[in-house]
Amino acid sequence: RVGMNVQDLAKLLHRDATEIIKKLFLLGVVTNQNQSLDEDTIEVLAADYGIEAQQKAEEDVADIDRFFDDETIDEAALVPRAPVVTIMGHVDHGKTTLLDYLRKTNVTAGEAGGITQHIGAYQARLNDKLITFLDTPGHAAFTEMRARGANITDITILVVAADDGVQPQTIEAIDHAKAAGTPVIVAVNKIDKEGANPEQVMNQLMAYDLVPEEYGGDTIFVKISAKMGQNVDQLLEMILLEADVLELKADPTQPARGSVIEARLDKGRGPVSTVLVQQGTLRVGDPIVVGNTYGRVRTMTNEKGHDVEAATPATPVQITGLNEVPLAGDRFLVMADEKTARAAGEARAKRAREEVRNASSVVTLDTLFNTM
Ligand code: GTP
Ligand code: MG
Repeated sequence: RVGMNVQDLAKLLHRDATEIIKKLFLLGVVTNQNQSLDEDTIEVLAADYGIEAQQKAEEDVADIDRFFDDETIDEAALVPRAPVVTIMGHVDHGKTTLLDYLRKTNVTAGEAGGITQHIGAYQARLNDKLITFLDTPGHAAFTEMRARGANITDITILVVAADDGVQPQTIEAIDHAKAAGTPVIVAVNKIDKEGANPEQVMNQLMAYDLVPEEYGGDTIFVKISAKMGQNVDQLLEMILLEADVLELKADPTQPARGSVIEARLDKGRGPVSTVLVQQGTLRVGDPIVVGNTYGRVRTMTNEKGHDVEAATPATPVQITGLNEVPLAGDRFLVMADEKTARAAGEARAKRAREEVRNASSVVTLDTLFNTM
């Protein structure tokens, strides 16, 4: 373990060599750039630069990460849950129009009058069964968001406009669904339009292993008009059929966990996040870690803007009460108390900051000594 000189160490710590020399001088060690340093001196310096603190913080963060990974599923506590369905497809093929149509037609008497909010998540009801829909943007720039969407979804609805056919983000969506292993239902959209050619879409998709049942395959195709609502009921029925096969279940009794669908800063209410509960039951007042943020659930509303006290698995809700705005795709976890939530959130935020600062390499005592 010899050979690290002041210059090497300076590089590893992302500091100026003269700064290191000055610091050493204050510690009573007179040195120059090329002089090699002993282990004790390096350790003292590293501690001085907060590396030990960083290492401790990383251990704390690792503890929290373990919580996130450590899902305790109690078979006896499992109950059926609604399917989470993500709508994907090329830009302008009609994803949001489909969701808007469901929103308009699914307002039950009791809910009428609520302020409909555009939160990119929506629950529809058919024959007393709920389906949770997530919208995704089709623009090429949002690959990340689509990949995340695919990872929290049970079923993918691939929307393909019958007047435009298979396009780059259609193919990308298929790849995400395949990577995530979710079944795909194809909604051939805009069949009301002149020049619509649903048969061509079916032919094109066969090249991607999406073969319609009528051609001997096992992929469900529904020809719809999201704008007119034609065959949308049939699409919902197909989703429920597929969901039945999957036998989706969750444990509503464990501490709630899930994912952020979208988040933004509201002038009056602070950070506002739409989250999907995946396990457990989320309640107003719960101490929570969300990605690198933390807080206590202050308010919780559904997509109609109505207050809800509790949200069970597969329910999307909008929450306030976080210290900062989390990122779409961040996972959340309810903690035992607010103090733990805060410590966890701060440790994770600190790690994120360090990662940005040391974009090239995160220096720890271990990596320091390993390079010697
Ligand atoms: P991105 O979110 O940008 O990827 O687009 P999108 O897939 O959400 O498409 P959107 O629902 O915004 O629809 C794009 C355009 O197509 C709008 O002008 C819609 O009115 C129109 N449109 C969507 N569905 C239909 C349909 O079934 N028939 C007709 N004629 N037009 C439709
Ligand atoms: Mg859209």
